[in-house]
Amino acid sequence: MATAEQIKTLIQSHYDRNDDRFQSAVLQLAAYEARQGHSALAREIRTLVDRNKSSTSKVVPLNKDFGELIESTIVDERLADLVVTEELKARVERILNEFRQREKLKKHGLSNRRKILLVGPPGTGKTMTASVLAGELQLPFRTILMDKMVTKFMGETSIKLRQVFEIIAESQAVYLFDEFDAIGAERSRDNDVGEMRRVLNSFLQFIEQDDSNSLIVAATNNPNLLDQALFRRFDDVLHYHFPGEEEIRRLVKNRLGEFRSSSLPWSIILARATSLSHAEIAKACDDAIKEAILTNKTKVDGSLLTTMIDERNNAYHSNGR
Ligand SMILES: Nc1ncnc2c1ncn2[C@@H]1O[C@H](COP(=O)(O)OP(=O)(O)OP(=O)(O)O)[C@@H](O)[C@H]1O
Ligand SMILES: [Mg+2]
Repeated sequence: MATAEQIKTLIQSHYDRNDDRFQSAVLQLAAYEARQGHSALAREIRTLVDRNKSSTSKVVPLNKDFGELIESTIVDERLADLVVTEELKARVERILNEFRQREKLKKHGLSNRRKILLVGPPGTGKTMTASVLAGELQLPFRTILMDKMVTKFMGETSIKLRQVFEIIAESQAVYLFDEFDAIGAERSRDNDVGEMRRVLNSFLQFIEQDDSNSLIVAATNNPNLLDQALFRRFDDVLHYHFPGEEEIRRLVKNRLGEFRSSSLPWSIILARATSLSHAEIAKACDDAIKEAILTNKTKVDGSLLTTMIDERNNAYHSNGR
């Protein structure tokens, strides 16, 4: 159960009417319970937070022009929840470590790696990684809604972008330019090559000039977009892949938590899940848990899990992918 400190923080933040601290304390409590192996309770707590989020999600007031372009939340995603290869985990740890000790680096004229590009197929943990960086460093998590910016401020996108980078410099947080290649996609739709090229160029220029204390993360699942000019602007480029056998095992174990039956037919599960992304495997596990709850079972067994994995496989193939 929750520690005495956690309970006191919850009570105090209620009396202080401090919603941000309350929410952060609740999420920390959920993470704590998850680490204790109480994953059902952790999930319930997170569901409660999600259900009440609409009123508390804009925790950091941004100028109203930016409220619709930058989404700001407090997250408590942890590195332990991110299932990636050891190598990728070490790369994320290095970003965290350099951030935590950035003053030490500064004394030697060096700066921490803070402009990060994440590349990889959908559902492999790019957005989640950005959220893990914010959760671990206890920074607000802000997503720049590029597609909105481009459609709403057509012709003035570069100006808006400059203002976004001013905010990045003024207010320390993790800033995610999610699917920032949306700019590229818009290019053909609006048939306005000139404007879009300018926008992409200004984006790269602003990134290059930025020397703020924030972390800037850009994510894309379109590797074709990446040329040397783009790589050069980032301090680090992390590549994501579909999960291998070891990762599938860890993901299923994490996700099923206390619903995991002690004997799962791993060879069958691994064989059926090989062409699925992390997100799809996570969904299959959640579906299996729901089904178990609704049929009054306390565990997810092998046949229930493989049924749900097969459902994901079918959805995947009928998508024409
Ligand atoms: N590596 C991972 N470890 C654990 N869970 C994961 C991982 N990748 C994805 N998930 C689960 O799938 C959800 C969606 O993943 P996420 O949004 O990070 O994918 P993405 O790589 O950003 O995909 P897209 O390219 O479509 O934006 C996550 O919230 C998480 O529940
Ligand atoms: Mg994403």
